[in-house]
Amino acid sequence: MYRIGVIGGGTMGAGIAEVAARAGGDVLVLERDTDTAYLARARIARSLTRAVEAGKLARADDAADRIAVTTSLDDFADRDLVIEAAPEIEELKIEFFTKLDAIVTPEAVLATNTSSIPVIRLAGATANPGRVVGVHFFNPVPVLPLVEIVATLKTDRAVLDKVTSYARDVLGKRTIESKDQAGFIVNALLIPYLLAAIRMAESGFASIADIDEGMTAGCAHPMGPLRLADTIGLDVTLAIAESLYQEFREPHYAPPPLLRRMVDAGYLGRKTGHGFYTY
Ligand code: 3HC
Repeated sequence: MYRIGVIGGGTMGAGIAEVAARAGGDVLVLERDTDTAYLARARIARSLTRAVEAGKLARADDAADRIAVTTSLDDFADRDLVIEAAPEIEELKIEFFTKLDAIVTPEAVLATNTSSIPVIRLAGATANPGRVVGVHFFNPVPVLPLVEIVATLKTDRAVLDKVTSYARDVLGKRTIESKDQAGFIVNALLIPYLLAAIRMAESGFASIADIDEGMTAGCAHPMGPLRLADTIGLDVTLAIAESLYQEFREPHYAPPPLLRRMVDAGYLGRKTGHGFYTY
C-alpha cells in the first residue's frame, strides 16, 4: 500500500494524510473546493512544523511534497488504499463509498475512519463489501499511537490483515480489533464519560474547571473531559452520541440538552474558538 487516498482534509483527514506521508506514502487528499483545500494544506503544514520543532521529524518539506490535494474524486483511480474521513453524516459517506467503488481498481481497499457509524452500512453501498474495513485513528493522529481496526460481517480476512499490517508496520501504530458496533471499543467507553461530565456541568453540580481538574489531577488524564470534548469537537461528540443512542437505546448514550444547544449555537469547541472554554 503505497498510493494512499484520504477523503477530507479536516482534523482527522489531515492527520491521517500527514502520518501516511511521513511513512513514505504518496498521498492524495480530496477537498470540496480550493478554499478548503488551502485550509487542509495549512493544517498539515502547521502540524509538520510542530513535529520538526518537537524533534520528531527531520524535514517538513519531504512529507509535505508527498501530499497532493484535489477536488476531483476521479483522481483516486490509482489509489491502493482510500481512507474516508468525511464528516460524520451517513448519507455523505455512503455517497463516497458508492462512487469510490466504481472509480478505484478491484484490488484497492476502501476504509472508513468513521467514529461511530456501523461500517457494514457503508460497505453495503459498494458492489464488493469484502474490501471495506474500518480504520479508526485518534486525535491528534500524529501523536496518538492507536488505530482501531473494524471488520464487518463481510470484510475479507486478507483485507483485514493488509490494513492491520499497514497500520502497524508502515505507520508504526498499535492496533486493536473491534466488532462492527456503533462506537467500536474506544468511543463506546469514552463518549458516555464525556456526556456524564457535560451533564455534571449542565446541572451546576460542579464548575467546568473543577470537573476537568478532577480528572487531570485526580486520575492523571492528559486533559479533562470538557476540554477533550472541545478538542474532539462538540458536533462530532454529539454525532457519536446520537449513533450510540440509536444503536443501543441506553440512557447513558443520550446527548444532554446542553450539548445540543451548544452545537445549535455554533459553539463547536476548539475549532470555532468557543466551547466549554474560549480559545
Ligand atoms: N507530530 C509528532 N509529534 C508531535 C506533534 C506532531 N505534529 N505535535 C506534538 N507532538 C508530540 C510532542 O513532541 C510531545 O512528545 P513527547 O511527549 O515525546 O515530548 C507529545 O506529542 C505531546 O505534545 P505537546 O507536549 O505539544 O502537547 P501536550 O503534552 O499538551 O499534549 C495532547 C497534547 C497530545 C493532545 C494530550 O493532551 C492528549 O493526549 N490529550 C488527550 C487526547 C485524546 O484523548 N484524544 C482522543 C480523542 S477521541 C478520538 O480521537 C476518537 C474520535 O473518533 C472522536
